[in-house]
Amino acid sequence: MSVHIDMSKKVTTQTFRQMKQSGEKITMLTSYDFTLTRLVDEAGVDAILVGDSASNVVCGNDYTLPITLDEMIFLTRGVVRGAKRALVVMDMPFGSYQISEEDAVRNAVKAMKLTGCDALKIEGGREWIDTIRHICQAGIPVMGHLGLTPQSVNQFGGYGLRAKDEAEAQKIIDDALLLEQAGCFSVVLEKVPAALAARVSEELDIPVIGIGAGNMVDGQVLVLHDMLGLNMGFKPKFLRHFAQLAGEVSGAVCSYIEAVKESSFPNENESY
Ligand code: KIV
Repeated sequence: MSVHIDMSKKVTTQTFRQMKQSGEKITMLTSYDFTLTRLVDEAGVDAILVGDSASNVVCGNDYTLPITLDEMIFLTRGVVRGAKRALVVMDMPFGSYQISEEDAVRNAVKAMKLTGCDALKIEGGREWIDTIRHICQAGIPVMGHLGLTPQSVNQFGGYGLRAKDEAEAQKIIDDALLLEQAGCFSVVLEKVPAALAARVSEELDIPVIGIGAGNMVDGQVLVLHDMLGLNMGFKPKFLRHFAQLAGEVSGAVCSYIEAVKESSFPNENESY
């Protein structure tokens, strides 16, 4: 199947709403630098998330918690320069919106001013609803994030499936409605049963972007390094490797080492 993507128009939060209304699925991938962002953007992805998963895949931490607002801003500036069409969303990292509403709005304004990104993503539901409302009221588009919210891993006790019982499933539905009422333009739903995700998508007018949330939502997001197969050791059930680049990269580096060691690189054509 060939997919037609209008590359002439910048994707906005309005485009997100129209795509949900017309039933066109939204594609989102993470990216953390200029070079890969250019490729992802030119391929036609609708949205690019500068996820706090940068803490894991860029910085090598086990958790998302250590990455700071200034580190997220640094990465997002490169991504914004690389993205011409896609909507760029920056994750508000742990500690940047939990301290007080005033601090959260100040940090959100700082992120928008210094990066030029199009929107921010904030984890959590009812706990942060007033904060999220104030950020939206400041004119900043916010993407919510429910289900498995990795900044709360220490409370959850791991990265397992969320909403296995009816009480948590109902809480997610209620929180999603609260996020919509607070002004969010979309919600990420991570690692929850597909039937629950479908229900949330039906209940909301704004798009639901799933990761490990089945197919009956309005769009999908994956971590770029994971779907490119750069870390073949990480293979949760929801992840598909659309490429296996780990082998390609290792192979290229081995060839380079061999060529330098045996003095076949650089050759005459590669010398001045
Ligand atoms: O940080 C991230 O990459 C995310 C996605 C997994 C949704 O929040």
